[in-house]
Amino acid sequence: MKDQRERLSRTTVILHWLIGLTIIGMLAFGLWIEDMERGPEKGAMIGIHKSIGVLVLVAATLRLFWRLGNGFPVALSVMKLWERFAAHAVHWTLLLATLAMPLSGILMSWAGGHDVAVFGFTVLEGGEKNETLGTIGHTIHSIGSKVFIAIIVIHIAAALKHHFINKDGTLRRMLGRTVDT
Ligand code: HEM
Ligand code: HEM
Repeated sequence: MKDQRERLSRTTVILHWLIGLTIIGMLAFGLWIEDMERGPEKGAMIGIHKSIGVLVLVAATLRLFWRLGNGFPVALSVMKLWERFAAHAVHWTLLLATLAMPLSGILMSWAGGHDVAVFGFTVLEGGEKNETLGTIGHTIHSIGSKVFIAIIVIHIAAALKHHFINKDGTLRRMLGRTVDT
């Protein structure tokens, strides 16, 4: 089923919450790992972080194609032009950031000469060490994560505004409900 105005498809709802909640967890996990002291425990945590990150990349790619084929959900409230533009810009940024975070992580690892594995299965062998590419990957991953967090906060605030102030069904619809307004 495709997305409809009064009801979103199961694919949209499942991908939204699966990816969204995993991303929030991965941002917190990454910041926590960053503060750990170097050692085998940190190495093991980075391994888990990388494994989950690659799986997020697979889900995020599926979602990108789903959105390109399906368009974004139609707004329920009458919105001003700038509000419609802002919502669209935030949704696109969130989608692209969900791809940019794992891709920059993979670049950083690969250019650092480290393999990328998903729970023990190598999906990409480490390349020759390349400091420039490693720095580009690290900068995108690190600065990108802070920008991502700021945009997620704006996104959640907008969802709560729709629910509590506009009192429309935007949040309920993303929770899988059928809505009429
Ligand atoms: C869902 C996608 C991902 C998110 C949201 C995410 C988030 C983060 C964050 C917030 C940090 C801390 C950055 C900082 O403050 O400098 C981090 C560190 C890191 N991430 Fe990711 N990451 C993701 C995917 C990946 C992937 C796919 C890889 C590699 C294959 C990866 C490898 C790393 C590495 C190596 C570090 C540095 C740890 C350290 O040196 O202390 N990440 N990540
Ligand atoms: C607990 C936190 C979250 C809440 C309450 C929430 C709520 C919502 C709601 C209500 C919509 C529907 C908007 C509409 O109908 O126009 C939506 C759409 C969207 N959200 Fe979230 N969201 C959350 C977390 C996230 C996170 C972390 C991401 C980033 C990966 C994200 C990415 C998106 C995207 C890309 C859309 C557009 C529709 C889609 O592709 O699924 N959300 N969100």
